[in-house]
Amino acid sequence: MEKNNSESRYEELIRLALKARELSYAPYSDFCVGACLETKSGKLFSGCNIENAGYTATNCAERTAFFKAVSEGEREFQKIAIVGGKAGRELDYCAPCGVCLQVMEEFCNPKQFEIILAKSEKECQIYLLEDLLPMGFGPGNLTEDR
Ligand code: THU
Repeated sequence: MEKNNSESRYEELIRLALKARELSYAPYSDFCVGACLETKSGKLFSGCNIENAGYTATNCAERTAFFKAVSEGEREFQKIAIVGGKAGRELDYCAPCGVCLQVMEEFCNPKQFEIILAKSEKECQIYLLEDLLPMGFGPGNLTEDR
């Protein structure tokens, strides 16, 4: 897809999250989610939710994006845009589930990592990871010198 020059980086991430959402595989919930994750070096990884007849095997859009990026050697991230809602309905803000927040806590600085919840390219709310997961348990909790 072409990038329009006046488009902000936030709008670009949201647009790519909306595009990823079109690939959502959600036959059980009909709740389709897309995400676009930006690394600190500026690379983008998108993802959608992928459901399963054995419900617990379902993967959220955010984790799809993270696992794609980490499996390509990326470990440092700056922001993620998320869009989600029932297929065919107007979008509302869709916050990440607790498991996805925990994956973010593993790789991101909670005071810097931005979570962009969007309804459209122009309508979004921006949170820090520490806002959505206060007192998160992360890698630092397991180091001896703390
Ligand atoms: N889901 C996500 O992909 N991300 C979220 O932030 C919330 C929930 C998915 C999981 C499942 O496929 C569907 O939405 C309903 O829970």
